[in-house]
Amino acid sequence: MRVLLTGSTGRLGGAFLSLWAEDNEVDLITPSRQELNLSDQDNVRSFLSQADFDLLINAAAVTGLEQCLDDPDLAQRVNVDAPRVMAEICEDKSARFVHFSTDYVFSGEQSGMKMEADAAGAVNIYGVSKRAGELAVLAANDDAIVARVSWLFGPSSEQRPSHLDHVLDRAVAGEQQHLICDKFSMPTFTHDVVHWVRLLVDAGSSGIYHLCNGGEPESWYSYGQEVCKLAAAMGYVLNEDDLVPVALADVDFFREKRPIHTAMTPARMIQEGIAVPRHWHDAATDYLKMR
Ligand SMILES: NC(=O)c1ccc[n+]([C@@H]2O[C@H](COP(=O)([O-])OP(=O)(O)OC[C@H]3O[C@@H](n4cnc5c(N)ncnc54)[C@H](OP(=O)(O)O)[C@@H]3O)[C@@H](O)[C@H]2O)c1
Repeated sequence: MRVLLTGSTGRLGGAFLSLWAEDNEVDLITPSRQELNLSDQDNVRSFLSQADFDLLINAAAVTGLEQCLDDPDLAQRVNVDAPRVMAEICEDKSARFVHFSTDYVFSGEQSGMKMEADAAGAVNIYGVSKRAGELAVLAANDDAIVARVSWLFGPSSEQRPSHLDHVLDRAVAGEQQHLICDKFSMPTFTHDVVHWVRLLVDAGSSGIYHLCNGGEPESWYSYGQEVCKLAAAMGYVLNEDDLVPVALADVDFFREKRPIHTAMTPARMIQEGIAVPRHWHDAATDYLKMR
């Protein structure tokens, strides 16, 4: 299978790169941002029209909430216009398309796990752009998979530490940490996402899927506490008592609004017999062994 992967320098794209580069069944093409710049529709159209692939994985996006707030035009071009062109070209070439989205398409006003069929209603420019990208992709390509993920952890470059890595490194350094305790989502291992994508593609699935691990919704505080407990049980020497809960309303470093209750359940994968995602604790334990 010839796979063209965007965003291979990112947290999620990096997981596809590391796992599929060694896979004999996959011939992986990973254009750099210089070769394929998603902010330039003409470049996207000409590059992809000439490329030869069976599957396009779009793990590239403008992911910073404050970056989207400051530059909504860039968010529109990268998160909406480029995925639309990708979906159109995949339709023309009869290639499969997997596009990534986010739990931030939900308003997060109601507690409870979010299913694929639940109404979206993003509260910030990032979420609005990602929802518009989902709709553009699905309108252009009936066979596309829109995979929503949340709070990703896994191996990544030092410039892109996940919450798990950040909390763990600071706990090992003995630092006191103030973590938000009243905003909730579902931690998810990038390597599990790569595995589920393969299953979905092989099954010929299409439409929106929630790709997340199992468990109860976590706050950044409870997630941090749990990671420290798991790591301590594995022999890490760290300061797990110095996590301090803080309310979202009491922090002043965010300029853009954050949705509160966005934990998702992978309902379709379970109902359709694709996979029953494991608890995020088990996935995090595997990741801690790899660190
Ligand atoms: N991380 C999470 O917890 C999380 C949560 C929910 C949803 N998601 C979704 O998951 C997907 C992957 O997220 P991620 O965390 O892996 O993102 P990330 O670490 O921020 O990486 C983003 C990737 O997109 C590339 N990119 C950005 N602008 C580009 C452009 N104009 N042209 C070409 N490439 C460009 C970046 O390239 P450079 O290295 O050159 O900047 C990088 O490879 C996204 O769709 C995101 O919305 C992630």
